[in-house]
Formats: sequence, structure tokens, C-alpha cells
Amino acid sequence: MKRLGIRNLQTQLLLIAICLFTCSSGLKIGESCGSDNKCDAGLSCQTCPSNGNTRPRCSRIQPLNPTSKVKGLPFNRYSWLTTHNSYALAGARSATGSIIIAPMNQEDTVADQLKNGVRGFMLDMYDFQNDIWLCHSAQGKCYNFTAFQPAINVLKDMRSFLDANPSEIITIFIEDYVTAPQGLTKVFKASGLSKYMFPLSRMPSNGGDWPTVDDMVQKNQRLVVFTSKSSKEASEGIAYQWKYTVENQYGDEGMKAGVCPSRAESPAMNTKSRSLVVVNYFHSAPNRSQACADNSAPLLSMMKTCHEAAGKRWPNYIAVDYYQRNDGGGASEAVDEANGHLTCGCDNIAYCKANATFGTCDVPPISPPPPATETPSEGQQSQNNNHANNAYIGRTAELMQSVVVILATTSLLAWL
Ligand SMILES: *[C@@H]1O[C@H](CO)[C@@H](O)[C@H](O)[C@H]1NC(C)=O
Ligand SMILES: *[C@@H]1O[C@H](CO)[C@@H](O)[C@H](O)[C@H]1NC(C)=O
Ligand SMILES: *[C@@H]1O[C@H](CO)[C@@H](O)[C@H](O)[C@H]1NC(C)=O
Repeated sequence: MKRLGIRNLQTQLLLIAICLFTCSSGLKIGESCGSDNKCDAGLSCQTCPSNGNTRPRCSRIQPLNPTSKVKGLPFNRYSWLTTHNSYALAGARSATGSIIIAPMNQEDTVADQLKNGVRGFMLDMYDFQNDIWLCHSAQGKCYNFTAFQPAINVLKDMRSFLDANPSEIITIFIEDYVTAPQGLTKVFKASGLSKYMFPLSRMPSNGGDWPTVDDMVQKNQRLVVFTSKSSKEASEGIAYQWKYTVENQYGDEGMKAGVCPSRAESPAMNTKSRSLVVVNYFHSAPNRSQACADNSAPLLSMMKTCHEAAGKRWPNYIAVDYYQRNDGGGASEAVDEANGHLTCGCDNIAYCKANATFGTCDVPPISPPPPATETPSEGQQSQNNNHANNAYIGRTAELMQSVVVILATTSLLAWL
């Protein structure tokens, strides 16, 4: 009896020791950060000058994993962070060697986006150099200066991710300019992704529920692909997007507060015979410095507007430019909120309780966030120190608590 207790105690001490090295390594959400003060994993250090917020602070760039929080629902009961033109990376050079003259929409690779929880990818595919390339072009034709890279590179990254993460599901939306016969089929096959494709025959075409995520995982059908070309259903068995989704207008027209019109190719937003809802929120001309402002409060507000327009349905896909950029919340927050509504009837998936009835929520008490702007009277340095000190004091308090717990446990064991 006593032996066992002591072994437990040793385990506890070991866990605490490990935690001292790992748990307290980075800064939390909202804390001031800089080159010496790094943020925790899943956060990035950023400002949002276009909102007047100049204090560098840790901001979230990852949504919660919805299927590990609320398990086993139909696929259409989850929401996924989606990148618009996922491949069009700022500062990239064309794989042809040319410089690129085309708008750019993201700033990290698809492999990194996957690590950060992005699960929807909007890819423009073109016939180019006897292959299929990801280009950001016009009039359906790709040029060296609009060609980012061969599609197979990015598809292979996705295959590696699906191989390594057997319970994850990815969706690709192809803006399809490919005319080569069986072009898409060939590139998916060459990338090794074909085996993961969710079959067209299992997609509900009349507004019904999708199979559950468990079923998709168990059958290893973990890649959902949509094309913008209707003919590809008959020729290659690839789903025509707007038979299964409704989607709002993209670009500036889709950013007018208070309205959520459908894009031309999509049925009206409230068409219930389409089970999935896609919400776009990005400018016609991508603007990196504006993205932090767009991806925050206005995005959350548009999500609510589109929820009404879509017949009280929350978005399954939330598509943005520069998805990491935000001003205290961002696209990750939007996805968590959508997942809360979709999976458990709460305002955020963080509030869902295990196995609880729909709408039973665990809302934590709200602590006011630290100010977003720099105080003019204080220098950046002292600000940083203040926050670092506060964080340090917080951690010391946690440590003291642990010591008290250990002492109490030891006394109890001795007494036994
Ligand atoms: C485009 O890039 C290829 C190399 O991938 C090169 O051979 C070709 O000459 C380039 N075309 C033009 C018009 O510059
Ligand atoms: C991009 O956004 C910034 C910040 O809001 C703004 O000052 C700038 O004019 C915008 N650029 C373009 C090209 O619209
Ligand atoms: C929730 O339900 C699952 C399946 O019935 C069960 O394995 C799990 O232990 C339950 N979790 C809680 C916290 O009750």
C-alpha cells in the first residue's frame, strides 16, 4: 500500500519536473512577445497596425481539432479552416525560375498549413508544361510568371500528412482549368492520393447527412475533392462542387457587412439540398497588412450574417487569405465558434462537454484581455518586461501550488 503510494509520488514528481521544462517554455495568448520572448506552440507573435494595435502579442494561429473534441458526428457537422489560394505564397519564385507577377494570398507552405490545422485548400489547377500546375492566372491560361509550382508537389505533401495522421480528413476545392483528358486523375494517382479519395457515390446529393468522420477514417476515405467543372463528374468521377455545397460571393462583393449573397455558380445560400456551406471572406486584391483586421471581428460578424442567409446553417468551410494574420481571435476563433454551434450547440467548441446533451456548455469565466495598443508613457522594453514579469509571477505561483500539493500528499502517505 505504502510502496504503491510512493511510486505514485515519484511519478507525480517526474511529471512535474517534465512540465517545468516544457509547460512553461512559451508565452500565452495576449502576452507581449519579441525576439527574446517566444510564444507557445500554436501561437505567433504579431501586431495589427491596420487596427491601430502595435504591441507585439501572442495570437492564435491554430483552431482546436474538432473531431478529437466532439467525436463521431457526420462530416457535415464540422467546420474547417480553409486557405484561399493555399499555394500562392508571398515572396515565392516560380518553379520555372521566373519571377511571379500574380496576387499572393498566404505566407506558409501547405505542409505548414496542415500542421496549423488548415483542412480545406483552394487550388487553381492549369495545364502547363505537359503537366498540371498551380497557377494564379487569368483567361484559363498559365504563364511562367503566373505559375507557382507543379500541383504534384503540394499533393504529395498532403499524402504524407494523411499517411502520418490516420484520423485526419482534408478537403480540396479545385478551380479547374485542366482540359487534358484524365488530367486530374493522373496527377492524383501520381501523388499517391487516389487511395484516400472519398468516392462520389457516397456524397449525399440531396441535402442528407454525410457519413460520419469515424466511418470516413475507418474506410480510409479521408480526402474530399471538389472541382469547379461539372463535366468532371462524368469523365473522372470528381464531384462538381455546387451539387454538394452552397458558397457565398468571394472578393470585395462578399465583404459587404450585413449581406451574404451566393456566388454565381452556387445555388442560393439557403438551398438545403446542399449539405455543406462554404464562407469566403477575403478581398478581391489580397492585402497582407489588412488581413489581420479582416480575419477578426468582421469575419465573425460575416459568419453570423451567412448563418442567417444559409437558413441558419453554420459554415463547414471558412476560407481566408493570410489565415495566420489576426487581431485577437482570427480565422481560428471563427472556426472554433462554428464548430461549437455545429457539434454541441455552444458558442465555441472549447465549451463543449463530453457526452453532454446538445446545448449544455461549459463556459469559462472571462478574464479581460491585456491592452492591444502600446501605452505611450511606457517604452516597448519596459512593457515587455512587465508582461514577462507577470508571466513569471504566474508561473511561480503555479510552482508553489505544486509544492504544496506534493507536501500534502507526502504527509498523507506518511500518516497512512
Ligand atoms: C518558361 O520557363 C521554362 C523553364 O521552366 C523555360 O524553358 C521557358 O523558356 C520559359 N518561357 C518563357 C516564355 O520565358
Ligand atoms: C492594404 O491595407 C492597408 C492597411 O489597411 C492600406 O493602408 C493599404 O492602402 C491597402 N493596400 C491596397 C493596395 O489596398
Ligand atoms: C463518452 O462516451 C464514450 C462512448 O460511450 C465513452 O467511451 C467515454 O468514456 C465517455 N466520456 C465521458 C467523459 O463520459
